[in-house]
Amino acid sequence: MSSLYFKSHNDDFLLFQEDCLTAINTLDQPLNMIFADPPYFLSNDGLTLKNGRVQSVNKGVWDKFTTDDDIDSFTYTWLSSARDKMADNATIWVSGTHHNIFTIGKLLPRLGFKILNMITWEKSNPPPNFSCRFFTHSTEYIIWARKHPKVPHYFNYNLMKQLNNDKQMKDVWRLPAIAQWEKSCGKHPTQKPLALLAQIILAATKKNDLILDPFTGSSTTGIAANVLDRRFIGIDKEQTFIQLSKDRYEDLQLEGRKLFFKQHLNRLLNKAIYSA
Ligand SMILES: C[S@@+](CC[C@H](N)C(=O)[O-])C[C@H]1O[C@@H](n2cnc3c(N)ncnc32)[C@H](O)[C@@H]1O
Repeated sequence: MSSLYFKSHNDDFLLFQEDCLTAINTLDQPLNMIFADPPYFLSNDGLTLKNGRVQSVNKGVWDKFTTDDDIDSFTYTWLSSARDKMADNATIWVSGTHHNIFTIGKLLPRLGFKILNMITWEKSNPPPNFSCRFFTHSTEYIIWARKHPKVPHYFNYNLMKQLNNDKQMKDVWRLPAIAQWEKSCGKHPTQKPLALLAQIILAATKKNDLILDPFTGSSTTGIAANVLDRRFIGIDKEQTFIQLSKDRYEDLQLEGRKLFFKQHLNRLLNKAIYSA
């Protein structure tokens, strides 16, 4: 692949700077899991309140709203290419808000996927609502689906139960938004918290499995994968974000950093990652 931006010395962390619509088609190893956090198309010039200051909701050109048909066609194309590259028992997790999650939920079954769950991530510390005209947005959704309706997928049920004080884990996960310790190399405007990605990876993969994030941003998925000894491929078309991903990976390799991250994740995930 000509757009390779970074490769770790043992090939377990690869970054490509390219449009995922073309990059996914060139992947040549079966994927065990995909996590995708595609554009939400909510950069509509509105305002929000962040850290006590009024700020624009716009995230960047990559998140600008186009037409419904364009969004459908973009979503259909990348999901279809991603499905072709998945192992038969692999699963995909796609995150979104009400702006894009219905499109994803509509297209997944149309492409042959079977939806397993719709996870609600409840943010324990959401930003306040600025307009005071409706409820504070405090959730995001993650649809979990497997490639084939009839081929069983991998689910680490026992670990999820253990993580939830020995009770079956529900599809509502209460976790904080990103904290200071996750921003040591800078920050992506829609960066996901590491604990969320660690929980997803622990639920659906084994050690050494291969994970793809086609909208990798700052590569939260890749950092969680690396802490948990999984292999990772990240794709993003923006150089700034791919560089941030590389910086985060290199920071993680410094003496003591993995242990530091594991300690934070263990605190947030009820000591689950020591037994993963
Ligand atoms: C919602 S953000 C992902 C944030 C990421 N989950 C994190 O924790 O940092 C979406 C990312 O997709 C990238 N992107 C948007 N369209 C893309 C495309 N067609 N191909 C590759 N990357 C794209 C954007 O540059 C942005 O970084």
